[in-house]
Amino acid sequence: MRTEPIRLAVFFSGGGSTLQNLLDHIASGSLNARVEWTLSSRVDAVGIEKSRRAGIPCLVLPRKEFTSHEEFSQAINLHLERHPVDLIVLAGFMCLYRFPPDYNGRVLNIHPALIPSFCGKGMYGHHVHEAVIESGVKLTGATVHFADNEYDRGPIILQEALPVLDEDTPETLAERVQALERELYPKAIRLFAEGRLRVEGRRVRILPEEGS
Ligand code: GAR
Repeated sequence: MRTEPIRLAVFFSGGGSTLQNLLDHIASGSLNARVEWTLSSRVDAVGIEKSRRAGIPCLVLPRKEFTSHEEFSQAINLHLERHPVDLIVLAGFMCLYRFPPDYNGRVLNIHPALIPSFCGKGMYGHHVHEAVIESGVKLTGATVHFADNEYDRGPIILQEALPVLDEDTPETLAERVQALERELYPKAIRLFAEGRLRVEGRRVRILPEEGS
């Protein structure tokens, strides 16, 4: 059983509310983790300030200054080599990232819908909730999955659904989905840290708690 906090790197592009939620869980003791460093793909991301306020070094690598996903990923991977972590947590990171092979199975992403619906390139943040309402589906939700070098793909770890209400706007829906995300992401990280996730093809089996 692991007692040392799991070492995380958290990548974001915007508001940083996902980062803040993880920091809150860590502070309250409900997540045994330490955020070693963060990465922002934009110079104007609000998350940068949240990271600095928490005393966590933030690497700012503006995606638009790189000509390709490969070049951008290489720059990240150079930093990762010098500052290794146990787990990379994508937290509203709106860029394609090609992680090194030894991080396979050690990169998580959260998506504000039920993958494989409403995901992929261009499907992020409020675009997702607008598309969900527009489509008329009656259920949406949140998904935590292992990342696999493509947008919003990779074996699904946890997924929870909630109803789309007749009176929902993208904003009200986002609020309820984000409330779900605030519980789902720490839970998935906890399961990873406890070694309870076994990937079998595209399926992730959740192993029982030790001693149960
Ligand atoms: C979250 O709702 C997350 O699920 C979503 O962006 C938001 C990030 O909020 N991620 C995606 O859409 C990934 N395809 P934040 O920037 O305030 O943490």
